[in-house]
Amino acid sequence: MKQSDIVLRLIECSIDELPAKEQELAHRAIEMTNNAYTPYSHFNVGAAILLENGVIVAGANQENVAFPSGTCAERSACFYAGANYPDSRFVTIAVAAREGDSKELVEKPISPCGGCRQALLEYEMIAGRPVKVILIGRKNVLVLPSVASLLPLAFTSF
Ligand code: THU
Repeated sequence: MKQSDIVLRLIECSIDELPAKEQELAHRAIEMTNNAYTPYSHFNVGAAILLENGVIVAGANQENVAFPSGTCAERSACFYAGANYPDSRFVTIAVAAREGDSKELVEKPISPCGGCRQALLEYEMIAGRPVKVILIGRKNVLVLPSVASLLPLAFTSF
């Protein structure tokens, strides 16, 4: 019998401490919280993905009266990127959230849900290298080295 530990490497910082391109990405994710369509949860999430061609694509959660038909911000951004820039690999994703009419971000960064982790992981595998994850809260920012680090022992067939 063998025991192993999976270690999650996490950097905690402020937006100002990020490199310039990541600050831009973070601000884009924050901006995108304004485009969320959330009449049911009133929880507004924005996501922005930096592609290797330098383009930033962004998404926001879009809800639907038939609840499962809605989608999270991360998936709205990553499917847009896959559909419109199929040949450009993902480099970094940033995620931010805001509650209801509040102008402020949630205090602690939110982290992608399980379904989004699985969806993003596929694009990380296509990229063939880690996709950095930046989670933005009012108080702090968390930086994770890859999507895989957020989804240990993930299901994958390739
Ligand atoms: N949501 C996201 O967009 N991303 C996440 O990582 C977690 C949750 C959305 C789904 C739903 O529209 C709302 O937030 C409340 O769960």
